[in-house]
Amino acid sequence: MVISTGISAMSFFTPHRYISLDTLAQHHGIDPAKFSRGIGQEKIAMPGHDEDVVTLAAEAAKPIIDQHGADGIDTILFATETGIDQSKSAGIYVQRLLGLPSNLRNVELKQACYSATAALQMACAHVARKPDRKVLVIASDIARYDLDSSGEATQGASAVAMLVTADPTLLEIGTVSGLFTEDIMDFWRPNHRRTPLVDGKYSALRYLGALVESWRDYQANGGLPYDGFAQFCYHLPFSRMGEKAHLRLAKEAKAEADMQAALPGMIYNRQVGNSYTASMYLAILSTLENSDSDLAGKFLGLFSYGSGATGEFFDAKVVEGYQDHLFAPRHRKILEDRTAVSYDEYVALWQARNGEDGTDTPMPDEAKGRYRLASIDDNKRIYVDRTA
Ligand code: CAA
Repeated sequence: MVISTGISAMSFFTPHRYISLDTLAQHHGIDPAKFSRGIGQEKIAMPGHDEDVVTLAAEAAKPIIDQHGADGIDTILFATETGIDQSKSAGIYVQRLLGLPSNLRNVELKQACYSATAALQMACAHVARKPDRKVLVIASDIARYDLDSSGEATQGASAVAMLVTADPTLLEIGTVSGLFTEDIMDFWRPNHRRTPLVDGKYSALRYLGALVESWRDYQANGGLPYDGFAQFCYHLPFSRMGEKAHLRLAKEAKAEADMQAALPGMIYNRQVGNSYTASMYLAILSTLENSDSDLAGKFLGLFSYGSGATGEFFDAKVVEGYQDHLFAPRHRKILEDRTAVSYDEYVALWQARNGEDGTDTPMPDEAKGRYRLASIDDNKRIYVDRTA
């Protein structure tokens, strides 16, 4: 008997400050349409000195725990490219901040922007074997490129938390996947670097190559035809990349590309920027929460890409009554309640070090959420819950 597995709750969080890409364009003296149309982005989410992947993740996961409780969760899988420690999983801090019980496993996964998809697949396999158990999958990243670099306009930050269960109430994750991995240097971040090295144009080309190869493998494995999908969600380093992906996939499938089948997924990402592992999952949330039509019973085509590079094309069936399990008003409020920063404020935030150099530092109190990184003491990150 095949047990249906997938996602029963999804919640995201992004910092309360952003720089508008118009401000960035003005500073660099370039046409704002280069960013709004050429890149397809409007805002870059900017974490403060006391925010990092742990605080973003805890904020994202809290509403899920409030609503579903911790019963049955026996695993936390934390996906990130912006790891804060070479050894300890960031998810262990989150487990403590959320007050989750001690009897669970907790592990961090890495493969650039892709690893949340590996986490989701592992979580589904786990709950298929143990249907009374649940897995908390969290994707959390801060995408940061060098100032004045070509990637600068594609920065961003967010976390998406997902509760993976048997008999899911939001999305049933399909059992067919198309996989593709190749050893390339399109985007990478050696241990000594805070920002990635990137061959931008090559990365965009290889993204499209991985999409085609993953799609072909998905078809070879018995996947749904192109016209079986109501919406497509792509990894979105910037939304124009998603548009290019959608056109390329339609060409490969010898179909006519309907951009309306990809645009709802881009709404949140345009406001937040790239958030690496969280990006495609933010696109899923954006699709479910912004689509004009009822998606119940319909299929989403999902493409996850992580430089280096791994791609996966897979599918999800939207479950009847899914609207009752979304946090849409909360998500809209998070986006609406944000504040724009000036170019100089952006540079100051960009330079926020978060203890990366190991010096003892009390962090300025900037985060608006419940959780913050209070200080680095003796090389230990001290996270606090303001309400405790
Ligand atoms: N009005 C409208 N459009 C304009 C414009 C204007 N005034 N000026 C330029 N444009 C258009 C250009 O014509 C171009 O469009 P096309 O792509 O259709 O040709 C687009 O704006 C981008 O401009 P450039 O070609 O000059 O490219 P750029 O220097 O801005 O750099 C980039 C683009 C290389 C992707 C850069 O943003 C980058 O390095 N990003 C980081 C890497 C990345 O995101 N790669 C994506 C694939 S890898 C991945 O997905 C993993 C990941 O998350 C990093």
